[in-house]
Amino acid sequence: MDKKIVDFLIIGSGVAGLRAAIELAPYGKVLIVTKDKPSESSTEYAQGGIAVALSDEDEIGIHYDDTLRAGNGLCRKEAVKILVEEGPERIIELISWGAEFDREGTKLDFTMEAAHSRRRILHAHGDSTGREIVRVLLEKSSSFSSIETYPFSFTIDLIIKDSECHGAYVLKDKDIVLILAKATVMATGGAGQVFARTTNPLVATGDGLSVAFRAGALLEDMEFVQFHPTSLYSPLAPQFLISEAMRGEGAILRNIHKEKFMGKYHPMAELAPRDVVSRAIISEMVKTNSDYVYLDLRHLGKEFLKNRFPRIYSTCLQYNIDITKELVPVSPAAHYIMGGIKTDIDGVSSVKGLFAAGEVACTGVHGANRLASNSLLEGLVFGARAGRSALNSPIRNEQLIKSNKELTINALRVTPYTPIPDHEEIRHELRKLMWERVAIIRCEESLGFAKNKLSEWSFIQKKKPITRRELELKNMLIVAQLITEAALLRKGSVGAHYRSDYPEKNGGWQKHIIWKKQEEVFMHKFIE
Ligand code: SIN
Repeated sequence: MDKKIVDFLIIGSGVAGLRAAIELAPYGKVLIVTKDKPSESSTEYAQGGIAVALSDEDEIGIHYDDTLRAGNGLCRKEAVKILVEEGPERIIELISWGAEFDREGTKLDFTMEAAHSRRRILHAHGDSTGREIVRVLLEKSSSFSSIETYPFSFTIDLIIKDSECHGAYVLKDKDIVLILAKATVMATGGAGQVFARTTNPLVATGDGLSVAFRAGALLEDMEFVQFHPTSLYSPLAPQFLISEAMRGEGAILRNIHKEKFMGKYHPMAELAPRDVVSRAIISEMVKTNSDYVYLDLRHLGKEFLKNRFPRIYSTCLQYNIDITKELVPVSPAAHYIMGGIKTDIDGVSSVKGLFAAGEVACTGVHGANRLASNSLLEGLVFGARAGRSALNSPIRNEQLIKSNKELTINALRVTPYTPIPDHEEIRHELRKLMWERVAIIRCEESLGFAKNKLSEWSFIQKKKPITRRELELKNMLIVAQLITEAALLRKGSVGAHYRSDYPEKNGGWQKHIIWKKQEEVFMHKFIE
């Protein structure tokens, strides 16, 4: 087994991981491990934009209030304050590194999205905001000789000794490499692939959540999964996000009878919070016995649509949908998990030496429902903060560096290899189950069914596979079980978590559910 010694290990190469790496680069050797090519992350696919209180008509306090309102009383106020206060500085820094956000003349152009009370969403190349941010961060990180990247390298598990994290076992070119680091920053993004319908790329299989959980880290708020109201629905097309910014610019939802409906569900109509819009769409789909509704953009004008949303325009056109002339079939899809590795506002997790930032982390900044376009900002702000606190990691691994024996014994945890039979079929079934029973509208019966079915697959946790697809499945199963168990426990509806059998918030709703692995069972506790 090869051994690699660095100062800082970053797992994941989206906005949070890259920003953390840049923060750490002046202070030691940084290794970024990412399971695909470095640009392949949810960040790359983020369209609508990045929210920041930088326009003349906006104020940090208003961004703060909007974020708290969207979070439905479950945001950690301290984290929200940091997000909105440090956000402007992170954006100005990004612009100084070369980020080209769209402008109206010389001034930055801010657009509108649901549940924002000001136009505060910056965007780049129309609807390629995430791609522009990745471009700039990759360029900036490549200017540091201290940053090295292992692409196409899959993190199997963390190296844990005496309950402290000392790095990770990584599958690289079919070999396991032991990477020893003083600080490990988890920044692997979300887990949308756990659901059959998702806006997330294929890489979003919840690996960081599961790897951290197996290592003993606390996870929290796992029941809070945000479903984006509009992803392209076409048998011929891949699942593809149809940005909320389109509704921000005036697009209208219509049911399959071409009737407008959002006004019946919320005074803000198309600009109501995402959970409200997603549930309204499901109601209309049920009433009209249809698998989709339509987004109507035709009144916005061809030139405007082609310039403002070039990526969506050309992608839809590839599948014979001309968004300037035709209604676009859409349906909700899993988009973002508010829960994750429990951290403080500096990315410090419950395991010494392990830090987390971005979607994989749960600082509590989003509460029960994330405000649109706050996630790229979260990655920048909390990625930088996690990087700064990783500098002060308490881990000393000199002894482990010397002791090959100890590491090899440890490594037996991930060998010998045993494959998972029928893993592609289980993966397909798991995603379908989660979409049908644990998605936008949940109840005791659907969740109980899912829980039982998931436990039938628990045998795969005992397997020690060595292919990426099988390792992903192990991780997806843990995340699916945690979401389902948490959704069962929260007998009430708040934010993105909606129980048809408990449609009100109910007593104790302000508590957070925290998970810890103990032997083979999940432990949980409620806290204030
Ligand atoms: C979108 O463009 O609709 C996605 C923005 C977000 O999830 O914040």
